[in-house]
Amino acid sequence: MSKKIKVGVAGCGYWGPNLIRNFRSLSDCSLKMMCDLSTARLKHLKSLYPEVEAATDYKHMLNGINLDAVVIATNVKTHFPLAKAALLAGKHTFIEKPMAASVEHCEELVAIAKKNGLVLMTGHTFLYSPVVRKIKEIIDKGDIGEIRYISARRLNLGLFQKDINVAWDLAPHDLSIILSIMNEMPETVNCRGSAHITPGIEDVTTMCLGFSRQRSATIQSSWLDPRKVREMTIVGSKRMIVYDDLAPLEKIRVFDMRVERPPHYDTFGEFQYAYHYGDMYAPYIKQEEPLKTECQHFIDCIKYGATPVSCGTRGTELVSILEASSESLRKGGAPIHFGKSQDGHVPAAMTSGIPIKITTASLPARGTRTKRVSAASRPTIVLNGH
Ligand SMILES: NC(=O)c1ccc[n+]([C@@H]2O[C@H](COP(=O)([O-])OP(=O)(O)OC[C@H]3O[C@@H](n4cnc5c(N)ncnc54)[C@H](O)[C@@H]3O)[C@@H](O)[C@H]2O)c1
Repeated sequence: MSKKIKVGVAGCGYWGPNLIRNFRSLSDCSLKMMCDLSTARLKHLKSLYPEVEAATDYKHMLNGINLDAVVIATNVKTHFPLAKAALLAGKHTFIEKPMAASVEHCEELVAIAKKNGLVLMTGHTFLYSPVVRKIKEIIDKGDIGEIRYISARRLNLGLFQKDINVAWDLAPHDLSIILSIMNEMPETVNCRGSAHITPGIEDVTTMCLGFSRQRSATIQSSWLDPRKVREMTIVGSKRMIVYDDLAPLEKIRVFDMRVERPPHYDTFGEFQYAYHYGDMYAPYIKQEEPLKTECQHFIDCIKYGATPVSCGTRGTELVSILEASSESLRKGGAPIHFGKSQDGHVPAAMTSGIPIKITTASLPARGTRTKRVSAASRPTIVLNGH
């Protein structure tokens, strides 16, 4: 039997316990430690998982118990120092979204991970959702035609954060999905918003992204809305997709609807737009917890030396958009122009859909892999259970 990957989780607030529950459930992972500054949080988690060691001292977690990997689910401003210390201590590192509070910090983490042959992954959870993978599959098959625009709304009352605005808190989810669908970085970003509750921290924002070929996306984020909304509409030249993440069953509906402009006309009287109203279908999607798939992916990448779908470079790109959105907010919504992907190419995960399996054949050449923990034979791994 191959060696289990020993993992510690830092941050046991709202989200950390979900990571703790999932890593603890994986058969090839051994959850060794939970770390938080709050003894009250640790006491609570210890009551749920008495076999897992609890500590307030992060240094002890890094140096005291011989972990293979560290998972960071603390407040965003602490991501960089904690992740840097973990990587320098030789630990494979998973950092919750957004990866860090600046591109400069992200780039430093990517460089340290690369130099030391360590897996660096960021928590773009929706990339591991079977619903988002289905959307990507439909789009990549050409079923909706050319994308015209994407509109996303992620609204609810709270949870207010003290160190980041609502765009940094909620928009990473929409951004990770939109970048994966668009297959490229935007050319421009602009953002408007307002701070109603905490001075200086916007609780309502609208971000607009401009892509090549006149494609665009808008992301509305709010901590001040009476209803919880998680919706995305993807409008294509042939069909349109409506994704409602809160719908219990039909999370995706594909509408065979479009509007076409006639190729030419002689007088205004002859001009008619061609509206097409067709069927709607809702594809069947097997329900799986995206976070569990994401946690398993991190463990698999460590075991087989593979680069994660949501690697440090993808995390850096996303933070570069958030940084641009903050700059735009400071400039009253002015557009910020910026360049292409950090590593200069479109990643495989973006071009060919999110890989659901790591196979022996799909592993990269030996020299380019990260450190492998297990030297055991490498069978096909099914990441999402089908
Ligand atoms: N992937 C997702 O869907 C998702 C969802 C929610 C939150 N998140 C992310 O998870 C992270 C945490 O968010 P949250 O809502 O749980 O925040 P939170 O404030 O509820 O919890 C953060 C915890 O980290 C602890 N902490 C802070 N500094 C520490 C340190 N130096 N050492 C040990 N513990 C420390 C705090 O005591 C607190 O308990 C954020 O990056 C957030 O964006 C991700």
